[in-house]
Amino acid sequence: MTDYEELIRQALKARENAYAPYSNFYVGAALLAGEGKDGRPLIYTGCNIENAAFSPTCCAERTAFFKAVSEGCRAFQAIAIVGGGQGAPASYTMPCGVCRQVMMEFCNPETFEIVAAVSESDYQVYKLKELLPEAFGAL
Ligand code: THU
Repeated sequence: MTDYEELIRQALKARENAYAPYSNFYVGAALLAGEGKDGRPLIYTGCNIENAAFSPTCCAERTAFFKAVSEGCRAFQAIAIVGGGQGAPASYTMPCGVCRQVMMEFCNPETFEIVAAVSESDYQVYKLKELLPEAFGAL
């Protein structure tokens, strides 16, 4: 995939729903899952959702993955991630280790792309294999 603009746009939009009153770090993610029946990209979005007890917090990436998988979708090509404090993202947000492991469960590490973005035109692309080398996989 070379056109990440739409994916990043949707991640930025999803970030508007981030619930992060404890960290004040707002994250949005947009997960590409092939094409819908209308031929348009099928995209599941997510935001981070924090909790007063802290550990129930769910990252934006996992929100997107769990929405998709819970709706029967298990084939993914790429995920765009945007994050930061109030206002426009100022630096790239990389997925945490737990989210990388969740990606490993459902994605081909050789081909799945992680798009860490600041804007639609400023982003870095990684393969899952680069971000989770020597990964633990399905038994
Ligand atoms: N967070 C994400 O949603 N995704 C990431 O890739 C990194 C961290 C969230 C978790 C928590 O709500 C906040 O950012 C600060 O860690």
